[in-house]
Amino acid sequence: MPKNVLGKIYETLAENINDALISINKEGKIILFNQKAGNLFNLDPQKIVQKKIWDILVTSEFTRSLVSIVKNAEGAYREQIILFPNERLFLMQIFPVKNPEGKNIAALAILKDLTELRKIEKTMHQLIIDVSHELKTPITSIKGFIETLLEGSYQDHKVCYHFLQIINEETNRLIRLIINLLDLSIGGQKIQDMTFKPIDPAKLINTLYNMFKPLAEAKNLILEIESSLLPIIKGNEDALMQVLTNLMDNAVKFTGILNKGKIKISAQILEGEGKVKIDITDTGIGIDKKNLNKIFEQYYRIKDGPASKLGGIGLGLSISKQIIEAHKGEIKVKSIHGKGSTFSIILPV
Ligand SMILES: Nc1ncnc2c1ncn2[C@@H]1O[C@H](COP(=O)(O)OP(=O)(O)O)[C@@H](O)[C@H]1O
Ligand SMILES: [Mg+2]
Repeated sequence: MPKNVLGKIYETLAENINDALISINKEGKIILFNQKAGNLFNLDPQKIVQKKIWDILVTSEFTRSLVSIVKNAEGAYREQIILFPNERLFLMQIFPVKNPEGKNIAALAILKDLTELRKIEKTMHQLIIDVSHELKTPITSIKGFIETLLEGSYQDHKVCYHFLQIINEETNRLIRLIINLLDLSIGGQKIQDMTFKPIDPAKLINTLYNMFKPLAEAKNLILEIESSLLPIIKGNEDALMQVLTNLMDNAVKFTGILNKGKIKISAQILEGEGKVKIDITDTGIGIDKKNLNKIFEQYYRIKDGPASKLGGIGLGLSISKQIIEAHKGEIKVKSIHGKGSTFSIILPV
């Protein structure tokens, strides 16, 4: 390959690589300072090539390592994690550049920005804590009810039935959680590959009502259902049920904490628009304005206030939004902090 082509390739590489590249020669003169390095140190690369590194950058762990390698004929490769003053974390790698006799003639530093990686790491760590907590809660409850049954409550038919309903609901919660974690798949299908069939929305909300009745009662909440005559819609039943149970889960969770309140499931047809609207209204803790549009983001949970103690992993609403959008529908929220919330899904007929 002709040398000038190779030179151009290196140049292209240096400018497009995601890392900051800095190289100095034996005199400390800067011979390479790519745009990423410019961004990092807030300098214009055009203006500093050929200047001495110590005239350009304040002395730091980084400049000291770079200079020490180039000054010392035998200086060897170094790797270290360093924190820049503006709270950014870097992996610093410094390579000696050798002449044919094996003596160092320059030093090349690669600075890899790890800040984003560390953020992801933190999110994942928090996720594991949240998931373990979420799994533990229903399992502890299931175990508790089973033990009570085994100790004798099973002989009372009414109590037995009630406990089994709670166990059933808690098991559903576990299944939903696991489904949510399994990369947003519903009934084994990915959201993108969902199949659509005609569904009766009245049936969906009745199932929902029966499913949550025992749980609402156990938390001292009134559960109501209200519906006009509804047309058939086209959708994926498992997926829509997952959305509705996510919304009900939240309503029960964020109202139950107050130990009293009301949740209403209502459905109506939006005349003239050819759409069905399902609302889940609660009289729970509500959501303040600044958080209202963030709650649909993945892993977003409101960290302050009473909700922070409730657990959750912040996936429910983001998955619900994806499912509803795949149905060409809309999911909306209205809320008054301290008064309650209404989540609405609007689906085309
Ligand atoms: N009905 C509700 N009332 C009050 N806050 C809610 C309600 N639904 C959702 N939220 C807020 O939105 C956040 C995200 O909800 P979601 O995605 O379901 O995650 P999770 O339930 O795992 O926390 C919740 O943590 C909560 O702060
Ligand atoms: Mg939730």
